[in-house]
Amino acid sequence: MKKIIETASLFSSAEAIRKSMASNLDLGYTTSPTKHIFDKNKSYFLYIHVPFCHEFCTFCTFHKFKYNESTCKEYFANVRLELLKAKEEGFSFDTLYIGGGTPLIDEKELMLTLELAKKLFDIKEVSCESTPNHIDANILTNFKGLIDRLSIGVQTFDNSILKKISRYDKYGSSEILQDKISAVVGIIPIISLDLIFNLDMQNEEMLRHDLHIAKQLDVEQITTYPLMNSKAINQSMLEHFLTLKKSKEFELYNIIREELADYSLNNAWSFSKTKTNISDEYTVTNSEYIGIGSGAFSHINNQLHVNAYDLNQYKELVTNNTNAIIASSKLFTLKKHIQYQFLLYLFGGCVEIKKFNKLFKVNLENILKLEIFMLKRVKAIDIKKGIIYPTRFGEFLIVSMMKEFYMGMDNIRAMLRKSIMTETLN
Ligand SMILES: C[S@@+](CC[C@H](N)C(=O)[O-])C[C@H]1O[C@@H](n2cnc3c(N)ncnc32)[C@H](O)[C@@H]1O
Ligand code: SF4
Repeated sequence: MKKIIETASLFSSAEAIRKSMASNLDLGYTTSPTKHIFDKNKSYFLYIHVPFCHEFCTFCTFHKFKYNESTCKEYFANVRLELLKAKEEGFSFDTLYIGGGTPLIDEKELMLTLELAKKLFDIKEVSCESTPNHIDANILTNFKGLIDRLSIGVQTFDNSILKKISRYDKYGSSEILQDKISAVVGIIPIISLDLIFNLDMQNEEMLRHDLHIAKQLDVEQITTYPLMNSKAINQSMLEHFLTLKKSKEFELYNIIREELADYSLNNAWSFSKTKTNISDEYTVTNSEYIGIGSGAFSHINNQLHVNAYDLNQYKELVTNNTNAIIASSKLFTLKKHIQYQFLLYLFGGCVEIKKFNKLFKVNLENILKLEIFMLKRVKAIDIKKGIIYPTRFGEFLIVSMMKEFYMGMDNIRAMLRKSIMTETLN
């Protein structure tokens, strides 16, 4: 009986948050230009998307096009135009994250764009994604002082899986990847390695092997993403939660926590050799952000917006409007907003109830009474001295919900991708 109640509690609390977050992603196309509503006295997190890759990987659902030199150059010029428009609109940014695709695919253009962003805004830290093919020591030396954190997509050091996800030929064997990474450690202040866990074929031993190598390489950060598969969101969540505690994914997550026990936790899936305040893409304190570039999401003033996917439409919008938004969500209700923030804070490590209440002008224990009761009931959280901490299972549950949230975004990407007809599209 206890088991049934536990399962039901777990299901309803996690499901309530998940459903609510998924409905935040319910976007509708805009018919007239959308204006950002924002606080001119506040500094926001800026995300720039670079949607080009030389070749595509089997597991990746991010917004991207096949690389073409002139299209890419024109695109970067339009991104710089959008940056100028954001400045004119009155935005302030203090943190920049450049993701892709492949941000370093055209180094000159990236450099011009970074220099402009730093000239226009008081940007204190820049994170940038890279494939293993763009981490040559000479290239990175040119970005000294421009990029503070470089996150390199490794995914795994297992040669059989690298072949399966079509990265072995493109980026090299495990041994080549290790040599490439060793050659650049120390050039950029923080090097972070992206690994994926719960990949097909990946067993406990393979994951431990990946983590041992990542640690040996002595990089500052390791990020371990659960495999996100956009089809999974359509499966029954009840079925999913019933087996969650016994899932291979939870077993693998426990291995990560065991192997990286001497690292400090940036959030439930990112680890640092030493404590750092530098932001990653999934940052908690920057829960409001502006996305620049084709397919970029913005989350601001209780709404989610997405920029044009089609490159021609993107160009037309940034040339003629203040921004490139083509679709927006409804305004989040207060409860949805608080659920989202609560999840983000738990993802970041804990929720200090008094501070949370002051910041969001709510009574958390009232507004999320049921959710907190349920999460306590299934031992996903503990409350000590006014602070809510996730247990290990709670951390995994949050990783799982964050995964769902990002898969929800992938589903939007898939929907928008269908709506465009471009030769360069995959
Ligand atoms: C958008 S990718 C860009 C990285 C870079 N283009 C590369 O391939 O090395 C950033 C990171 O997201 C993660 N990622 C991409 N697709 C994923 C998926 N389906 N599931 C989990 N993580 C994923 C990978 O770890 C990847 O390194
Ligand atoms: S993982 Fe990186 S290189 Fe591969 S398709 Fe995605 S963005 Fe492009």
